[in-house]
Amino acid sequence: MSLQSTSHENKVVLITGATSGIGLATVEKLKDVGYRPVLTGRNPDKVKSCAEKLNIPGYQLNVANEKDCARVVAAVEQDVGPIWGLINNAGIWLEGAFEDYSAADIRAVMETNTLGTMFMTHAVLPNMINRKSGAIINVVSTGALYCRKSISVYAGSKWAIRGFTGCMEVECAPKGVRVMGFYPGKVDTNMYSTAGIDRDLEVAMTPTDAASMIERMLTDEKILWGHVSGRSINDYM
Ligand SMILES: NC(=O)c1ccc[n+]([C@@H]2O[C@H](COP(=O)([O-])OP(=O)(O)OC[C@H]3O[C@@H](n4cnc5c(N)ncnc54)[C@H](OP(=O)(O)O)[C@@H]3O)[C@@H](O)[C@H]2O)c1
Repeated sequence: MSLQSTSHENKVVLITGATSGIGLATVEKLKDVGYRPVLTGRNPDKVKSCAEKLNIPGYQLNVANEKDCARVVAAVEQDVGPIWGLINNAGIWLEGAFEDYSAADIRAVMETNTLGTMFMTHAVLPNMINRKSGAIINVVSTGALYCRKSISVYAGSKWAIRGFTGCMEVECAPKGVRVMGFYPGKVDTNMYSTAGIDRDLEVAMTPTDAASMIERMLTDEKILWGHVSGRSINDYM
């Protein structure tokens, strides 16, 4: 581990959906630069093995369950320390014609991507406001910047978070808490294959690229990074 700065020491940052992809890369990056990342994920076996490998605290957390969110936030504050940062990263993909989706598909995407982000924000925010210090980064998507066919529910779940993030930015900044949105284009993760979608990710950015952008947003505290988007240059070729 290379500690590049001591200013992050003792800053606890909780990352949701951190057992793969952008979340796991963010945990690794934050650990590398000296934060105290707390890894969370919905699959207890994956949480255990990732947390043990990185030698950091890990908690089973399904963000779609508001009681789980409150329970884990309380446990982390007691076991590890005050949560200074939250990365709302957990998310799932859904693609296809809207009429073909089941009600369960729609519910799962909205509960994880939209309500999960709100439940976690709700759980950490009071203590951040009391301390007048904190940062929340919502991993949104370029899918919340434009409209296209076959992603209606996924895009809807993220457009809701775009609005939520923007409102929370202006509501929380005067209270000392930065609420920010990160809007990546394609990232080379399991998100599409988990949803049964075959996608060419050769042109995608890497999870480490995305994690570096998140780390910059978190660390440069004089800036409230409102809408940060990024896409691999190869995606334009
Ligand atoms: N990949 C892209 O091209 C891309 C582009 C723009 C935005 N994003 C966003 O980036 C975020 C991370 O996705 P990724 O690309 O890194 O995909 P990923 O590798 O599939 O990671 C998603 C993570 O979220 C977890 N998760 C799913 N539902 C959850 C729940 N209810 N509670 C807690 N954790 C849950 C997954 O756990 P399991 O492993 O147990 O399923 C997984 O660890 C998502 O919000 C996604 O929408 C991705």
